[in-house]
Amino acid sequence: MPDAPNPHALRARARRALIFATGRLRRGTEADKATDYWSRLPDYHLSNDQDPQAIERSEWVAKEVLPTLDVSSLLEVGTNSGRNLGIIKAAHPRMRLRGIDVNPRAIEFARSKGLDVEFEMADANRWEEGSWDCVLTMSVLDHIPNDAAEQLAGNIARSAKYVIAVELWDGADRTTGAYKYSRDTSALFSRHGFRTVRWAQAPGQYDTDRSLLWAYVGARGDVPSASR
Ligand SMILES: C[S@@+](CC[C@H](N)C(=O)[O-])C[C@H]1O[C@@H](n2cnc3c(N)ncnc32)[C@H](O)[C@@H]1O
Repeated sequence: MPDAPNPHALRARARRALIFATGRLRRGTEADKATDYWSRLPDYHLSNDQDPQAIERSEWVAKEVLPTLDVSSLLEVGTNSGRNLGIIKAAHPRMRLRGIDVNPRAIEFARSKGLDVEFEMADANRWEEGSWDCVLTMSVLDHIPNDAAEQLAGNIARSAKYVIAVELWDGADRTTGAYKYSRDTSALFSRHGFRTVRWAQAPGQYDTDRSLLWAYVGARGDVPSASR
């Protein structure tokens, strides 16, 4: 017999559907509506740190990718609970880290961990970040509509020497769900002067049928190839 539906999961899904539906009635661009949706999710951040596949992806960034690059400062866009930055800090205690997100509850939660990491509420589509050795995104660009993602990629490319982006790519540039976009991240950053260093299926997949994640590592055109 199939398992009975989990009442907590059903309630969470219903809450998200309501937030989505009410957000559709607001004025603004598609990107503003997507941002509004994410900013109002009440509890997404509470499950984010325990997910074993997500932890595998964070560990991969911290232990396999960053040691190959020349990085002493890193900005994470869409940091949510700060899981990635906590794992990066443990592996690279001297690295300067900052995480931004539009969700106030997630930022409050990330700050409550007491890490030596700066966490701040900010909408990446209204870019005010300075210079960073590396900018990291993980399943964030794939929730940002095309025009805004193109503009954000340009801003990231002007701010960073390296980009690490783990995002949805199922082989076609298309919308796959509510505020969910499959996109060739390698082509996206190439358009903004970046050279592709790695482009492969990511570790820590959670749903290869519906949300295949690809990992992109790119370097600004003037950054030498093998920095380490
Ligand atoms: C699927 S979650 C991924 C969270 C985290 N990167 C991880 O790996 O667990 C997407 C995150 O991006 C944030 N986000 C969405 N749009 C954003 C925007 N315009 N600016 C900043 N953060 C945004 C959401 O609030 C959410 O925390």
